[in-house]
Amino acid sequence: MLRFRRLASVLVVAGTLTGGLAAVTAVSGPASAQAATSASTDCPWTDPGLPVATRVSELMAKMTTGDKISMVHGSVGSYAGNVAAIPSLCVPSLTLEDGPAGVGDNLTGVTQLPAPVDAAATWDPADTQQYGAVIGAEDKGKGVDVDLGPTVNIVRDPRWGRAFEALGEDPYLTGQLGASEIQGIQGQGVMAQVKHLAVYNQETNRNTPLDNAIVSERTMQEIYLPAFSDAVNAGVASVMCAYSTVNGVDACENPYLQKQVLRDQFGFGGFVTSDWLGTHSTVPAAKSGLDMEMPGALDYGLTLEAAVADGQVPQSTLNTMVSDILTQMFKFGLFDSSDTGSSTATVTSPGHQATARDIAEQGTVLLKNSGDALPLDTATTKSIAVIGADASAAAQTSGGGSSAVTSSGTVTPLQAITSRAGSGVTVNDADGSSLNPVGQAVAAARKSDVAVVFASDYETESSDLTSINLPGGQNQLISAVAAANPNTIVVLNTGSAVTMPWLNQVKGVLEAWYPGQEDGNAIASVLFGDTDPSGHLPVTFPKSLSDVPASTPAQWPGTNGQVQYSEGLDVGYRWYDAKGIAPLFPFGYGLSYTSFSYSGIRASGPASDGTVTVTADVTNTGQRAGADVAQLYVGDPAAAGEPPQQLKGFDKVSLNPGETKQVTFTLPVAKDFSYWDSTAHAWTVAPGTYTIGVGDSSASLPLQTTVDISG
Ligand code: BGC
Repeated sequence: MLRFRRLASVLVVAGTLTGGLAAVTAVSGPASAQAATSASTDCPWTDPGLPVATRVSELMAKMTTGDKISMVHGSVGSYAGNVAAIPSLCVPSLTLEDGPAGVGDNLTGVTQLPAPVDAAATWDPADTQQYGAVIGAEDKGKGVDVDLGPTVNIVRDPRWGRAFEALGEDPYLTGQLGASEIQGIQGQGVMAQVKHLAVYNQETNRNTPLDNAIVSERTMQEIYLPAFSDAVNAGVASVMCAYSTVNGVDACENPYLQKQVLRDQFGFGGFVTSDWLGTHSTVPAAKSGLDMEMPGALDYGLTLEAAVADGQVPQSTLNTMVSDILTQMFKFGLFDSSDTGSSTATVTSPGHQATARDIAEQGTVLLKNSGDALPLDTATTKSIAVIGADASAAAQTSGGGSSAVTSSGTVTPLQAITSRAGSGVTVNDADGSSLNPVGQAVAAARKSDVAVVFASDYETESSDLTSINLPGGQNQLISAVAAANPNTIVVLNTGSAVTMPWLNQVKGVLEAWYPGQEDGNAIASVLFGDTDPSGHLPVTFPKSLSDVPASTPAQWPGTNGQVQYSEGLDVGYRWYDAKGIAPLFPFGYGLSYTSFSYSGIRASGPASDGTVTVTADVTNTGQRAGADVAQLYVGDPAAAGEPPQQLKGFDKVSLNPGETKQVTFTLPVAKDFSYWDSTAHAWTVAPGTYTIGVGDSSASLPLQTTVDISG
């Protein structure tokens, strides 16, 4: 994470630190100039009418080795990553900026979107595409060419400090949502840089040899890599390699990951950038497919030039690296128009804020609602206690690190609830600022019809959580409030799963994640029923930390220089299902203010095009309009050796009261009825009978059928 943006200065990377921080010195001077970009006789490759491949080869024919070397590492500049322009060849600069939740790195005038986990909880690719479109549009306005996102690493453990900036624990959900977000970003003419390839799941030992994942090929192919494949299929321009070491080889110099899988298997044609200070060699990195070192030139630059000169790195390898980068620069029109964006521009807008609010509403998950305690009804609820620092003084709207985005105007829950409740309702605020915060909260709860307690944790890049319990006495606070008021609702702002020892004492629970700057507006809208909650969990909530898949120190964060991925395929719900461990709330779970029923499952195929089609009906059986997430899970024949069931389809359906809609899932056999055969190094279809379950969580699949596949 680089937090050293200074608009009036440029930065020189002066040394390497592990932990992802760069030591920098600020020097005065202008940012690197944009090259002239109009077609000229000197630079015929600026003609947009020529094919990209022609433009690349014409330009490269004129580049010296020094020009080429300058393209493959970071340079001084005012963005998190800067590749210098080459004005004599009309090559513009390339600018890279964080990240996965909007324009980060302390830039202002931007929209603080909900955290990516919140976007994932929508289970709606249209929402994540819109999320990406806002990110891309704001990047464009800020003069950013490459957005450093999305983060598609799998949430292997709820303690991961970056769980909030990823898209959950399931490769299919992550892949689908990541791909739609990439399309949203790139639809604005900005490249996405999907990250971090691969098997990067902890901060504790990040960017050190101790984060050495010992992981099987099958586990990588089935769990940790599919979302990158989906990103490539979505046309992602760029990939960031990870701080992790994978089976003894640094991810950023790992030929299996960067060549065999990414290029040969997935067909990636873009460029690979190292995570910041994640390049640890020159020759192995260059020869394994790392195109660009960031943020400086510690291992590339002069060292790479010397390695090319003495033949350790073939000239053809350098040419490929440069052409990978230039190809995307041409494709994204960087040579065709001058960059009009500026890092000082104000790019947030009412429209972008409306998207932020909408996604925060759609991603909020109703976990419990005893006796229809929610939505709040101002006809009967005349006083509301709004409790917790998270409701006002310290609203937890974002996680920390490179995905943190500066809010351009946070609406707190206290502000929004007060305004939505109106003058007929008394709001009793207990913000925790008193010397006796529990006493203050209990007093406010006692004199109110309803008590709403806001509780949060704080996740950040660079450190992991040591526990999944709410920190700082918040569990005791909730219990005390619940004892004082039988109508207690808890709103959680957490980056991933937390335990809830008070669950039986409270009437309702909402998981609102880190909701971004529209925090209060989104939560009030759900609390008062202006929005029907339709978010579903993208991660399992366990009953206790001892239940998680990687519960031993050898598995996480590792011992003796190795991190054993011994749970194999059994990540997330796959683990709880395989071991018969009941979670607190299962993957895919989420309630609504209305109710749904499932009927009429029908499976047909495989058809001649190699697909199985499954249809089912979803009916809104309640009194209000609402949306449910229909989910399809496949269970393989025992011989395949797969987890009991795996998500292979989902569809968010909006329904009026009494309305029924049919959902259709089209499942390619080669993709959805196959496992990775580590002997053949290929996807293989096991012949036999597959079970298909459809419902609205991994633990509630009322519709069941089977499909016979002949292999
Ligand atoms: C993070 C990346 C981020 C980069 C630039 C690194 O520490 O791991 O995700 O894009 O910093 O800020």
